[in-house]
Formats: sequence, C-alpha cells, structure tokens
Amino acid sequence: MAGKMRADDGRWWVPGSVTLSLLALLMLVWYWRRRRMVRLINKLPGPPGLPLLGNALDVNIDIVDLFPLGCLVTREFGPMFKVWLGTTPLVVISGAKQAEVILSSQKHIQKSHQYGFFHPWLGTTGLFVANAETWPQRRKLLTPAFHLKVLEQFLEVFHRQSVKMVQKLGEAAEGGKLVDVFPFITNCTLDAICETTMGCSINAQDDPESEYVEAVHRMQQLIQQRMLIVWLQLDVVFKALGYGKQQESLLKTLHSFTRAIVKKRRKLFEEQRRYGADNTARKKPRLAFLDLLLEYSADGAVLSEESVREEVDLFVFAGHDTTAVAINWFLYLMGRHPEAQAKVHEELDSIFKGSDRAATVEDLRSMRYTENCIKEALRLFPSVPYIGRVLKEDVTIDGYLIPKDTTIFIFNYALHRDASEFPDPEKFDPDRFLPENSANRHPFSYIPFSAGPRNCIGSDPFKREFSSRPPASGAWGGGGKRGDDPSFRGGVGETGWDSVWARLSKRM
Ligand code: HEM
Ligand SMILES: *[C@@H]1O[C@H](CO)[C@@H](O)[C@H](O)[C@H]1NC(C)=O
Repeated sequence: MAGKMRADDGRWWVPGSVTLSLLALLMLVWYWRRRRMVRLINKLPGPPGLPLLGNALDVNIDIVDLFPLGCLVTREFGPMFKVWLGTTPLVVISGAKQAEVILSSQKHIQKSHQYGFFHPWLGTTGLFVANAETWPQRRKLLTPAFHLKVLEQFLEVFHRQSVKMVQKLGEAAEGGKLVDVFPFITNCTLDAICETTMGCSINAQDDPESEYVEAVHRMQQLIQQRMLIVWLQLDVVFKALGYGKQQESLLKTLHSFTRAIVKKRRKLFEEQRRYGADNTARKKPRLAFLDLLLEYSADGAVLSEESVREEVDLFVFAGHDTTAVAINWFLYLMGRHPEAQAKVHEELDSIFKGSDRAATVEDLRSMRYTENCIKEALRLFPSVPYIGRVLKEDVTIDGYLIPKDTTIFIFNYALHRDASEFPDPEKFDPDRFLPENSANRHPFSYIPFSAGPRNCIGSDPFKREFSSRPPASGAWGGGGKRGDDPSFRGGVGETGWDSVWARLSKRM
C-alpha cells in the first residue's frame, strides 16, 4: 500500500515539477520583457505600491471617492507622476508643459483602452474612438461639417429648445422650490443635438417616456461605471452581473433608432438629388449634419451606411452631455456669484433690449463678459476632466523617458488649477480671460476642449449653442443649493453625482 502511494507520488511529481518550472520560466520571460518598462516607469515620482498589486488597493474604493483621491495624489506628486494599477502603469499629467508634449504631437493620437467601452455603441471607426490609423481620414472628411456657415443655421434650433427649457424650469421652480437643474438641461441639449445632427425631433423635453432618450442616458451611465470600476472592465464580470444583457437591449434601441433615421434621410437625400434641379420651388429643408455625411458618402465609397450611423451616434453622445455639464456648472457659478450674474444680465440686455429673438452670430461675438464667464466655468469644472492616450513610441518629458505603450492620463481638472498660471486657482474670476490677463499664459494651461490635432471638433458649435440661451424669457435670478456645496467628482452629469440644486426666480 505504502509502496503504491510512493509510486503515485512519483508519477505526479514529475509533471508537477515540469509545470512549475515552465511557469517559473514564463514568469521570468514576462519579468525580463517588462524589465526596461518597469525600470523607466519607476523613475517617475508616485505613491509607493505593493509588488504585483501596485496601487490597486488604493484605488479599490467607492467610485465617488476616486476623483478626490486623484486630486490629492496630484497635489502631492506634482505635474507628472505614475501609479501602478496592478502590473499596468498609468502616467498622470497635470502640467501644461508636459501635456503639450503629448497633445501637440501628430503621433500620440491613439486613445487609451478605456475608450474601448464606447465601441459597442459608437463603433470602432467613429471619429471620437477611431484609432491612430483610421482617424486622420475621418477627421478630414468631417471637418467641413463644422463650418460656421453650417452652424449658423442651427442658432434657431438652439433658441427654440432653450426657450422651452426655461419655460419647463420656470414651471418646476414655481413657489420658490429647489430644482435639480441637470435633467432639464440634458434633455434640452439632447433635443438640440438630435435636431441638428439628425434633422428630426426626439422630444426629450416633452416626452418623459421616450425609449431612445432613456437609452442614451442609461448607456452613458453604464460606460462611465465601467471606466471607473476596474473589475467591471472584465467582460466576464460585466456579463455575470447582468450588465451585458442590459447593454445589448440598450444598443438595440439606440442603433435601430439611428439606423432608421439614416435610412429615411438617405432616401430623402437621393430623391432630392434626382429631382432637386427642377424642383426649386419646393422649400429645401434645413440641412442636418447627417445630410452632409450623406453627401460625403453619396456613393458609399467613403462612408458606409453603418459608418454614417456611427458618426451620428457619436455626435449625439459627444455633443449633448458635454454641453449639458458645462451649462449645469455655469448656472451654479452664476448662482454663487451674483455680481457676475448681474454683469451677464447687463450685457445680454444691452444686446437683446428685452426682445425674445434668437441670437445671431454677430450677437455671440459681442458677448465678451458672458463668454469669459463660460470659459471660467469650463476652467473650474471641465466637462471632460481627463483625457486618455496610449503612447505610440517612446517619449521624453522633463528628462524622463516614458516607454511606448504606456497609458497617459491628462488630468485637465488639476491642470486648470495650476497656481502659477491661474493665481488663487479655486476663485471664480472671469477676468482671467481678458486679453491683457491671458497674454502670458502657457497655451496648454487651459484645455477644456483638449488641444492639438485631436482636439474637440465641436468646440465651435458648442460656443454657439451656449451663448444663444436667451436672457429675456424668464432667466434665473439667485442661486440656491440643497445641503452642502455640490462637489465636483469628475463624473459627467449622467452619474447624478454632480447635481446642482437651484432656486430660480423670474426677472422683473
Ligand atoms: C462644452 C462642450 C464640449 C466640451 C467641453 C468638449 C470637449 C472635448 C474634448 C476634451 C475632446 C477630446 C477628447 C479626448 O481626447 O479624449 C473632445 C473631442 C470631440 N468632441 Fe467635444 N466637447 C464639447 C462639445 C462638443 C460638441 C457639441 C460636439 C459635436 C456636435 C463635439 C464633438 C466632439 C468630437 C467628434 C470629438 C472627437 C474629435 C477627434 O477625435 O477628432 N464636442 N471634445
Ligand atoms: C428627461 O428625459 C427623461 C427620458 O425621457 C425623462 O425620464 C425625464 O423625466 C426628463 N426630465 C425632465 C426634467 O424633463
């Protein structure tokens, strides 16, 4: 009996030892191949971590605490530091000089893997998520769609939708009630972006049960959760918790909606191409972004129908939440700074003289002070608080060599609070953006729309949309809040962390 046991042991021992040695060898190879990367990364300052786990335990906290933690660490380790998320390094940049090296480069335009969570919704070749190889061609194709002439015709849409928002807010604020303004704003920007992108009304503000609107909101929440909660990034976990099924059903709603619109507009477009010339009497409908995309892809050679769908979904996503978050914080700051609010009113009154008309491009240009307030709001609360890139080749910053394939986070939120560029950085001061006060600033010290080749293609229409909120139809006076100051968590509005409660009153 004993002898047999020993024989068994022996038989098992041999393959066991082979497996073990193989494993050891593999680890050695793995270690050896990473040796250079680890050595280089570890030269950077950063919080100390554990072997293998790195700083993973430090970031395994409630997601609402992640953002404040990031700020704390940035304050301690300066404009460029590393953290180890397990065995993966992350280099966090919050200095203008360091950010410039990455953002101004034509090479480092590859987005980091976190953007991959957008792929199911926005595809893999859409402008926002496109990789370094397919991006240049797409960008070139889409740039003319953001021409001022195109945008000008949208001012009427922004006006109409914002008048509706002001009216809805007015109803909700009746009797001095506190209102969470964000849901109103986001439904308004969604209405505006859908009308300008797809040329159709989705009635987000009027129809509280729109399946499409609900799906847009929910999908965004899902993606954001995934970007922030590390274990949700594993497909197995994501699916096991039922999120996979949820996502599939949302995608079905989202894609079938936009696909149907693309089909409809394409039919219309083709009809017009066929009959257009001899049918000049018929009033031409306003062109939506989608129509321009169809024009560019008339023969399907450049953009397939599915690619057009991707870009439309992308515009809806990129265009509505960013603007909603910006308006949300702008209103908050106006409430907190009555003296600035009074000056904004004064400026708008001098332009509109009590009229309810839509703003013109000319008007927008003369809103100097208002524009500086918007800029200051985007400095303090950038809608996109961080940007992720992955290095396509080694790069040297401040004498540190950072190896190819490293993920870089540009931390706009902290970058905008550099006291050497913006003295007393927490203070709301729109005059920072007066020409005489911004002349000596580093060009990358203020980058709410990112900068360089992969900056925001929508920053122009954004400005238009923003500045056209009409002042006359019952604008807000005075700000209020529920409990503490809302704290910025870097969660875009959809997460609901950044609620701004306001008490609104009609202007006399
Ligand atoms: C307050 C408003 C907005 C802010 C703060 C903002 C900010 C940004 C930022 C920071 C980026 C770079 C993101 C990155 O590198 O990961 C970006 C890219 C982009 N934005 Fe915006 N954005 C705004 C409004 C809009 C609007 C209204 C549209 C379109 C209708 C738009 C379309 C895009 C697109 C298509 C990209 C990708 C550009 C590319 O990769 O070539 N954005 N935006
Ligand atoms: C915004 O739209 C969503 C989805 O249709 C709806 O549930 C919500 O009530 C709307 N919010 C406001 C304040 O209109």
